[in-house]
Amino acid sequence: MKTVSLTIDGNKIKAREGDKILWAALNNGIYIPNLCALRDIAEPAADCRLCFVEVEGYSKPVTACTEPLRKGMVVNTKGPNALRLARTALELLLASLPVDCAHCASNRACEIQKIAHHLGSKLKSKRFRKLLRKLPVDSSSPVFIYDPNKCVLCGRCVWICRERLGIGALGFAHRGFQRIVTTFADEPIGESKCRDCGECVIACPTGALTFKEQQAKLKEGKPIL
Ligand code: FES
Repeated sequence: MKTVSLTIDGNKIKAREGDKILWAALNNGIYIPNLCALRDIAEPAADCRLCFVEVEGYSKPVTACTEPLRKGMVVNTKGPNALRLARTALELLLASLPVDCAHCASNRACEIQKIAHHLGSKLKSKRFRKLLRKLPVDSSSPVFIYDPNKCVLCGRCVWICRERLGIGALGFAHRGFQRIVTTFADEPIGESKCRDCGECVIACPTGALTFKEQQAKLKEGKPIL
């Protein structure tokens, strides 16, 4: 495939034409917040709205995970309009997430912490009313625990289980605020066709899916990472 030259945050880089801005930036050490994008997905749903960037000549910010590269493009990942949109998306997400990092097995490995730090946002924003779902935690797998309350609906686990591994134990159910990642007929994971490979846990950007081993270390006060 043809390579093109472009500029991101003042850095001149080369990348494959048609590739998305997000991957060109990340490949070159330039971080753009993201949750719902996966390299294997050609047309991401762009649901998380965290990857906004500004492009010279464009009238409004675009999502970096969907915008293809063009020759000579000038991208600014820190433009005020892009940052404002990304910060709002993060605050909306946090409004329905329990934030208790000290008691979470993903503390310091959580993508939400990284994104908040990058955007200069607080994890305990008061701008939007907190609305928690209070869903039951599923510990039925011998390998991992699924806490749907910490799920950001990025879809990484669903995609990996279904498309990459061909298992399809996880999927989305319901709409709007009720939308969740669950198994067929909402059965416990331990009774579903899950094979306990743990790939979904590795893909999860938050503490929604964590290994039981991590949870045990957390309880014992041992370092997890
Ligand atoms: S990563 Fe682009 S919208 Fe989620």
